[in-house]
Amino acid sequence: MNISLPQHSTLRSPDFTFGVATASFQIEGGRQERLDCIWDTFCETPGKIVDSSTGDVACDHYNRWQDDLELIEGLNVDAYRFSVSWPRVMREDGQLNPEGVNYYIALLDRLLAKNIKPFVTLYHWDLPQHLEDKGGWLNRETAFHFQHYVDQVTQAFGSRVHSYATLNEPFCSAYLGYELGSHAPGIIGKEFGKKAAHHLLLAHGLAMQVLERNSPDSKNGIVLNFSPCYAMSDSNADVKAAALADAHFNHWYIKPVIDGRYPALLDQLPDAERPEILDNDLAIIAHPIDYLGVNYYTRAIVRADDQEGFALEVPENAPLTDMGWEIYPKGFTDLLVSLNQEYTLPPIYITENGSAMKDEIVNGEVNDSQRVAYLNQHLNAVDMAITQGVDIQGYFAWSLMDNFEWAEGYLKRFGIVYVDYQTQHRTIKASGHAYREFISARKTA
Ligand code: FCB
Repeated sequence: MNISLPQHSTLRSPDFTFGVATASFQIEGGRQERLDCIWDTFCETPGKIVDSSTGDVACDHYNRWQDDLELIEGLNVDAYRFSVSWPRVMREDGQLNPEGVNYYIALLDRLLAKNIKPFVTLYHWDLPQHLEDKGGWLNRETAFHFQHYVDQVTQAFGSRVHSYATLNEPFCSAYLGYELGSHAPGIIGKEFGKKAAHHLLLAHGLAMQVLERNSPDSKNGIVLNFSPCYAMSDSNADVKAAALADAHFNHWYIKPVIDGRYPALLDQLPDAERPEILDNDLAIIAHPIDYLGVNYYTRAIVRADDQEGFALEVPENAPLTDMGWEIYPKGFTDLLVSLNQEYTLPPIYITENGSAMKDEIVNGEVNDSQRVAYLNQHLNAVDMAITQGVDIQGYFAWSLMDNFEWAEGYLKRFGIVYVDYQTQHRTIKASGHAYREFISARKTA
């Protein structure tokens, strides 16, 4: 099983950027050398993480980063997307923590020496706990703390970074963290999600202002996740429900960033659920971005529901990943094409795409043929979007290696490299080999 794209596909051009992605809390460990974050607290709260694990050690990337960069280099990728741990680089008094900053500077320098482009995410969910103690993303002040942190850390990094993303998936931070409560900090209540989302988006806009000043030569943008919404039936009720879900999950985040306004849904929200939007906020949020990062894993099938307005359905007999997410590559093409129709977009980078599978290591090998098939189908879906006019410039596989999968702990494996958590031994899976072969053939073509 291989990755194979049409002869004239843009993805086969050496100008298309291929990379692998990770995030600080999911791989680093090294907890003693940083402040606590909301995920430390969440992990220590009984019943929140399926396997009761923590991020204290994770993949021990904090200590093994040099070997891990060799691994990345061995995959022959053009770029590496990782995130900076805010609680590692900032102290509680608002000063930089030189030890943390130097850690990332060494990593950046090593990447540059290897000719691998650093794509740096500034917030991948590890909010310092001391800020959560003051209300976290429900507190407007947190957006300004974020701006300050971004100002400090980007000055320290100088011109080393190829691309910055302000936030990763504000939908997950806001909705899962402050409404559903399945992610840190675990706050539950319909009245909180959209408020947290507004402060996150404000933080994004404030950070863009700083990036424009401190790092004018990097490509600066935001990473959003999308689940394209399909009505379960042609009935009016289901079609309306799908549009409602689409506004909550997807347009709520992209529309203010691109168009400077929230979807019409804003006016339908009960007062208690409506965020407080100050005069200049939407202008700040709509600061021009150099690129849009798109994360795609699956679609949503939606039906009408009397109480909530909509409900999600898992389709019968559909192929699923180990997360229980439907494998639906066509949704990827549909999503990219429809976003491109609806918005005036900057270039797109696919900043995450991948699948969890029940990987097993047998005689030192992981034959994850299902993941190879997933990769192949989804890369072809990206190619189809490009042929339909969408400007897509890069693709990052989620993930470089198996890691801490949030509320699922270490039970779900997304890596193209297998991690044995007892020994920290890394084994490139068949998908990693297929990815490397595809990328390498492109480079030598
Ligand atoms: C995304 C997250 C990423 C990873 C994948 C599976 O929502 O950005 O950290 O957990 O899902």
